[in-house]
Amino acid sequence: MEKRKELYQGKAKSVFTTDDPETLILFYRNDTSAFDGKKIEQLDRKGMVNNKFNAFIMEKLEAAGIATHFKSLLSDQESLVARLDMIPVECVVRNISAGSICRRLGVEEGLELNPPTFEFFLKNDDLGDPMINDYHISSFGWAEPEHVEKMKALTFAVNDVLKALFLDSNILLVDYKLEFGVATGGEVVLGDEFTPDGCRLWDVDTREKLDKDRFRQGLGDVVESYELVGRRLGLSFD
Ligand SMILES: Nc1ncnc2c1ncn2[C@@H]1O[C@H](COP(=O)(O)OP(=O)(O)OP(=O)(O)O)[C@@H](O)[C@H]1O
Ligand SMILES: [Mg+2]
Repeated sequence: MEKRKELYQGKAKSVFTTDDPETLILFYRNDTSAFDGKKIEQLDRKGMVNNKFNAFIMEKLEAAGIATHFKSLLSDQESLVARLDMIPVECVVRNISAGSICRRLGVEEGLELNPPTFEFFLKNDDLGDPMINDYHISSFGWAEPEHVEKMKALTFAVNDVLKALFLDSNILLVDYKLEFGVATGGEVVLGDEFTPDGCRLWDVDTREKLDKDRFRQGLGDVVESYELVGRRLGLSFD
């Protein structure tokens, strides 16, 4: 697969076209950002760790019948994915309260949410990714109403698969963010990534944070924690 031109450079990944118009290359850089791009650092090995972590998770989801854009690993920091028409919305499920919901609703961190909550956010760094609802998405035409329903159903389906997967390794899936896109055939498909950059993962016994909150909160051992989670899931990064 030949790499052609850079289509887009995001905060953590770069997107390249290939000789196949339906296939893109996602290049996972070492750049790590938080607070809508206001804190940025290069973290050694992060691109490689996230690329392999994501591949592992996408394959688990695919095996559980959830359609994803993931095709294959291409190199340490690159994966081949199906080109999607991305929906500019982030889908967030929370199993335990943490992060922005605590500030927004004045609730303490660590509350078990039963049932889990679901939130949509508009992908717009300049606006600070504001929370939106189903009506905003339809009224402003960011996605078709049936695609909105599909995103919700798929995001919850991912919860069933991944909550159990992480718990098997004694890790709590606290919350996570997903992005979807529409494939050539019109199907809503999981795109982007699932890595510790976009979810919260806590050790069951110690409640130690093993995700990007280590970076946000300056706790250190960021990539080391991502690797620890990966190894507990059975992944190898060598
Ligand atoms: N299969 C796909 N087809 C097309 N675009 C994709 C696909 N998967 C992910 N993307 C997009 O590629 C970009 C990945 O880069 P990255 O995650 O670094 O961006 P970001 O900083 O999170 O987002 P942005 O800068 O776009 O606000 C995102 O814009 C994402 O929506
Ligand atoms: Mg992103």
